Amino acid sequence: GLRRREASVLVVGLDNSGKTSLLNFLLPTDEQSSDIAPTVGFNVEHFSRQGVSFTAFDMSGQSRYRTMWTNYYHSTNGIIFVVDSSDRTRILVAREELQQLLSHRDIYSRNIPILIFANKMDLRDALSDVGVSSALGLDGIINKSWHICSSNALKGDGIADGIDWLSTAIK
Ligand code: GTP
Ligand code: MG
Repeated sequence: GLRRREASVLVVGLDNSGKTSLLNFLLPTDEQSSDIAPTVGFNVEHFSRQGVSFTAFDMSGQSRYRTMWTNYYHSTNGIIFVVDSSDRTRILVAREELQQLLSHRDIYSRNIPILIFANKMDLRDALSDVGVSSALGLDGIINKSWHICSSNALKGDGIADGIDWLSTAIK
């Protein structure tokens, strides 16, 4: 039927990867902001897409706040993990954080979808989606559906594709 669905998603990834910029693009035009500062703690945002009403927890990626991510694992219907595809040094740190998330008891045994945005695809040094996928070790993900999209959060490229996948993947 035309039941309106609701979903809660957790948006994580290292600081400066583009999480807040990416979410900003999904907000209604009158709610979008033109200057985005590093997130302190977290912010909650709402947007709708394909009949799904999303509540997104936009977490800070700064190391001192990363431990807060785990508080929301048990209640989330999906994960959005954002990576700066051009930050070839810190992609190893991103891999480490993603692997920790995947092995957490509140995530490990639950069949929740994981959407990875290989963001900043516009930058000259950016790895491709295949490159990011291999750097993060996505092939090792078992018993979860995952999907990777290259994105440019400044222009919006790739974002709708990713969210449409997530809308379908969230049961
Ligand atoms: P924290 O809140 O600190 O965890 O960071 P964040 O992941 O929310 O990153 P944020 O959205 O604040 O973006 C960080 C910087 O990257 C900003 O200067 C953005 O303008 C820039 N940025 C975000 N997405 C892109 C992108 O796709 N391409 C380029 N070139 N810059 C981007
Ligand atoms: Mg932010």
